[in-house]
Amino acid sequence: MSFKNIPELRIGNWQADIPIVQGGMGVGISLSGLASATANAGGIGVIATAGIGQFEPDWDTNSMEADKRALRKVIQKTKAMTDGIIGVNIMVAISDFDDLVQCAVDEEANLLFIGAGLPIRLPESLPLDNLGELPTKFVPIVSSAKAAKIIFRSWAKQFNHIPDAVVVEGPLAGGHLGFKKEEIDNPDYALEKILPEVIAAIKPYEELFIKSVPVIAAGGIYTGADIHKFIQLGAHGVQMGTRFVATHECDASQEFKDAYLNCKKEDIVIIDSPVGLPGRAIRDEFLERVSSGVKETFKCPWKCLKSCDFKNVPYCIALALTNAKKGDLENGFAFAGANAYLVDKIISVKELTETLVGEYMAVVMQRPLEAGMVAQNA
Ligand SMILES: Cc1cc2nc3c(=O)[nH]c(=O)nc-3n(C[C@H](O)[C@H](O)[C@H](O)COP(=O)(O)O)c2cc1C
Repeated sequence: MSFKNIPELRIGNWQADIPIVQGGMGVGISLSGLASATANAGGIGVIATAGIGQFEPDWDTNSMEADKRALRKVIQKTKAMTDGIIGVNIMVAISDFDDLVQCAVDEEANLLFIGAGLPIRLPESLPLDNLGELPTKFVPIVSSAKAAKIIFRSWAKQFNHIPDAVVVEGPLAGGHLGFKKEEIDNPDYALEKILPEVIAAIKPYEELFIKSVPVIAAGGIYTGADIHKFIQLGAHGVQMGTRFVATHECDASQEFKDAYLNCKKEDIVIIDSPVGLPGRAIRDEFLERVSSGVKETFKCPWKCLKSCDFKNVPYCIALALTNAKKGDLENGFAFAGANAYLVDKIISVKELTETLVGEYMAVVMQRPLEAGMVAQNA
């Protein structure tokens, strides 16, 4: 399929043929299979690092080393499977943030997506006076203009450098959310509202540093028409998670994908994650059990999340998500976006991206004037 009428997505020197980023999905949902398939389809494939070491044999005894080793192996494997653009997603909230950032940079991941917290400080081991020289480009994930401003101001001051792109994640996303519970359904925090605010907030920094910073919209984007809508609102691309779970190449078990196929709208709920953030997930017996006050027994081999009060939390979220990834949903649950109930079949990543581009083009054909605007935006 020709992509020439959909804008490309350029971040630093890296250029993806289609403006679609497959969101990083831990624990083990986006590894080499999904990331390489997305990159091969012309998008940006992202490896999630959250819990990546869980699949190493020494995770219980040597967790930090297991994490680093696993990340190194997954990046190398992904690169062997594609020549496309590959990113790594690292949560600020994880205890070995510094080690994993360094590892992704050492392995020359093209992009580093940094979410679940504000990346104000970066590991001392990086060339902090010369971040622009690194082949790896930095992309913070934010949920407000305020967060974007804090990051850009701080990076400008500390590093004389600003991020290379930004993901703006709205309240309809799957996984942990950067909103208070009461903000999730408030239209003032809708993606349509916060996206232009973030674009405006970073503009002065783009002018100061004479650098274009693409903004990528995420959360609830499901069709090519949605992609078109957010590009018209000023986004340079979109990040999607839920749609990529429902693909053959997604690294989750069939049972995890079945949870998407079988869920109804009312099954998609907001939970209080032990991380201290709200999260969006598919309700199941495990979540019913823990929300009714049952405390799961678990051993914490190391405090993998900086903020986790592991002695008092009702369950270990890393373990619950690992169980779900492996197909044991009696002892875990699936994170999912607000539109996961729309999933009705599992398709290949190629079919998904071609469908999305086709839907995008159908809107452009109906609105030729806007097509001109798209070309300018590209
Ligand atoms: C199963 C699942 C796991 C996720 N894990 C992470 C993660 O580890 N780190 C992160 O920054 N975002 C995570 N996300 C968010 C996605 O990267 C993406 O931004 C979001 O799902 C977009 O919304 P959508 O699902 O409506 O497309 C996760 C989402 C899902 C559905």
